[in-house]
Amino acid sequence: MRIEEVSLSLNEAKDLIEAARRARENAFAPYSNFRVGAAVETIDGRVFAGCNVENATYGLTVCAERVAIWKAISEGARGFRRLVVIADTEELTPPCGPCRQIIWEFCGDIEIIMTNLGGKVETVRAGDLLPRAFDRRFLTI
Ligand code: THU
Repeated sequence: MRIEEVSLSLNEAKDLIEAARRARENAFAPYSNFRVGAAVETIDGRVFAGCNVENATYGLTVCAERVAIWKAISEGARGFRRLVVIADTEELTPPCGPCRQIIWEFCGDIEIIMTNLGGKVETVRAGDLLPRAFDRRFLTI
């Protein structure tokens, strides 16, 4: 992408970033105090946002990215264009391993926009975060 195209696409993503930022305010993170927001956009422009939801068992915690995707899927949405993840970290927070697998399952090689509260932004592709992914292509039995 050329520089103008990158800044145009980030400009277009302003609303999606804002949706993720607002969702982050609802983070239920009393154990880690690490608050995360995410928002996913469908091909036809619908936005679903989520926050991390922790649990006293720790292991039942669900990340913001998966909450956003579960909300979208459970509302019947299919086909995604990009996903935003936002946290209050200087080094931008990327999706964790399990979330990368879930993003690949439902969104494929989409654009992932990582950002923080200071407005720093970085974009990566899902396929670059999860090279040589296992997916339905292998289930040929
Ligand atoms: N977390 C997310 O929600 N998304 C990420 O990309 C990284 C981690 C959450 C899970 C847990 O509630 C907290 O951050 C600390 O790991």
